[in-house]
Amino acid sequence: MLVCYLTDEPSKIPAIRALLGPDHHVVPGVLGEKLPFGSDGVLMIDADLRVMARVAQIKETLGDLKTVSEKLFVVQKHLHHMVAQAYALGATSVVRSNREIAPKLAEIEAAAKASGATGGAVRSEIVDCARAFASMFSAINHDQSIDLSEAERATARVVVGIERDGLGSWLDDVRRYHEGTFQHCLLVTGIAVGFALEIGFADLDIKRLGMAATLHDIGKAKIPLSILDKPDRLNPSEDKIMKRHPEIGHELLKDMPEIGADILDGVRHHHEYLDGTGYPDGLQAGHISDLVRLLTISDIFAALIESRPYRPPMPRQDAYNILCDMGGKLEKPLVKAFRNVALVA
Ligand SMILES: [Fe+2]
Ligand SMILES: [Fe+2]
Repeated sequence: MLVCYLTDEPSKIPAIRALLGPDHHVVPGVLGEKLPFGSDGVLMIDADLRVMARVAQIKETLGDLKTVSEKLFVVQKHLHHMVAQAYALGATSVVRSNREIAPKLAEIEAAAKASGATGGAVRSEIVDCARAFASMFSAINHDQSIDLSEAERATARVVVGIERDGLGSWLDDVRRYHEGTFQHCLLVTGIAVGFALEIGFADLDIKRLGMAATLHDIGKAKIPLSILDKPDRLNPSEDKIMKRHPEIGHELLKDMPEIGADILDGVRHHHEYLDGTGYPDGLQAGHISDLVRLLTISDIFAALIESRPYRPPMPRQDAYNILCDMGGKLEKPLVKAFRNVALVA
């Protein structure tokens, strides 16, 4: 595969050539200099995103390479906000170490083959939505205010994308191109929108549920990456920290005048169960709204079908069976109605 390697540090080039050859054809370029490549192949960007001048150069370069469909960023593992910065710049994949590059390229190559000769261009809604998530997470990490209009725009694009192409292709595309928290948020929003369309919600209600889904895990921006991206099961103290994200999200949004009470309710209560065994408030059925019930089902299903580096995604039928086995925790008629969403082609 053709790999156009763009770096701010020419001394990294020999190591990348050694790492990827002879399986890939590496064409190196240096940021700020005339590029020896065009829009073909995978663009791999390896630069220090903490330096604003570099970020500006990358933006300019990407402006000239608009038709590149695969943009793989290499960021440093320990810097949480650099991952968000990469997605904000339009990354379609992010790796956190050189070790992860070859497996990721193999994945991209396999996906391109599977989707035919086009090379599997990443649809613009996914890139835009990931960018919106990245920018919200980044704002929170820098104690800046969140731009809700960005979340609204991203949600509206998901609705248009799912109405046009269906939920099945949205789920496949998201799982192919994104990982971790952004993948989860993209999946939940898509599933919630698909659910709302399936049960015939009015446009305004689709938008409300979509926005609640877009924002539901915003509190995770404050959870350390070592917990958020931990490949193994969380230990009890990590689990306790993770379970704070609904309250944190609620806290982050509650004073914003443009946020509706129903969306705040979704952010705070999407881990509540009808039998009172959920968190953070242990609500019983009578206190759990319809919007939250739909969101909870979408959230659990998304978490089950996510693709993770350490395990293959669970088949949708298996994930749906798990929902059906959750007894009194979820509303049975809604789980039944969800069948068409879960098993959509
Ligand atoms: Fe959550
Ligand atoms: Fe979630």
